[in-house]
Amino acid sequence: MTTLQQILGTELPLIQAPMAGAQASAMAIAVCNEGALGSLPCAMLGPDAMRSELAAIRAGTDKPFNVNFFAHTPPTPDEAREAAWRAALAPYYAEFGIDPAGIPTGPGRNPFSAEVADLLAEFKPPVVSFHFGLPPESLLAKVRGWGAKVLVSATTVDEALWLEAKGVDAVIAQGLEAGGHRGHFLSHDLTKQLGTFALLPQLVRALKVPVIAAGGIADADGVAAAMALGAAGVQVGTAYLLTPEAMTSALHRAALKSEAARHTALTNLFTGRPARGIVNRVMRELGPIGPAPEFPLATSGIAPLRAKAEAQGSGDFSPLWSGQNATGCREVSSAEVTRALAKGFR
Ligand SMILES: Cc1cc2nc3c(=O)[nH]c(=O)nc-3n(C[C@H](O)[C@H](O)[C@H](O)COP(=O)(O)O)c2cc1C
Repeated sequence: MTTLQQILGTELPLIQAPMAGAQASAMAIAVCNEGALGSLPCAMLGPDAMRSELAAIRAGTDKPFNVNFFAHTPPTPDEAREAAWRAALAPYYAEFGIDPAGIPTGPGRNPFSAEVADLLAEFKPPVVSFHFGLPPESLLAKVRGWGAKVLVSATTVDEALWLEAKGVDAVIAQGLEAGGHRGHFLSHDLTKQLGTFALLPQLVRALKVPVIAAGGIADADGVAAAMALGAAGVQVGTAYLLTPEAMTSALHRAALKSEAARHTALTNLFTGRPARGIVNRVMRELGPIGPAPEFPLATSGIAPLRAKAEAQGSGDFSPLWSGQNATGCREVSSAEVTRALAKGFR
């Protein structure tokens, strides 16, 4: 069977999870140069930023790297849901002296598109990964056109089988422990979501393509445990959040280092899709699952509250993304985190 390293072209079957808003080329380069697969999250990058980040990676490493995109279908705005969302936030707008009439509506994150595929073709990234399913076949064909390998998150056996039937090169088993957005796309029923060590062996049994374990893996022992359950490799996110290469804010870093990081929950309040973060005031008072419009439309309503609160040194309205296991977060370089995790491949 083809190993994950052969598919990725890396020395190690280790992927630094793409983390939109929390890292960019600097972390990807550091990880690639350690023999693992560094990732550039592109969900929140416009074309100019994407181009300069890709150029930085090409200049910083000659190793394979991954670029990551969201593959959601943009929702039709729903006035009633938007109104309910603004009503839920109204007391906070009043508290912070924000005029709600001045808050624009609109998306916060764009899905993979033909324009982006054409931009990527200039750089030919060897690996492209998607979250929230796959883009349309015509766009995928463009990615395949330069020979990229395609990885996609699956959160259930049904999603994994669906992805395998579409010809993806490997499936990322994203367990419920994982930080950031859940990657589910066939069903929005959260009761169908499984923990990493329940999901992983089921996918290993059901699939012919390699399965990459993600969620709650924080150190070499976690890596070894995932490999013992049949993973072909691992993808780790949260453990990189305190590194100097991460763009994690000071507030977010403080939360990750505190006892608060022991309590995370899935919340839809920041974007409209369930994502795992450290429980904070808005999650406690309105959720964690609350009356938010569909992804990514919730982002604009909460953005001014986040900005005001952060200016006062508070993370009460910020997404403090974290997996359930933040014990691997250390203030060391991304290279060092990578080397420590690599010791799990025994
Ligand atoms: C801060 C943060 C941001 C994330 N952003 C993305 C993203 O942009 N794209 C993606 O595919 N996954 C994203 N994820 C999820 C990761 O791919 C992965 O599933 C997760 O980090 C694994 O669990 P762990 O955080 O416990 O290691 C993010 C995770 C975190 C912690």
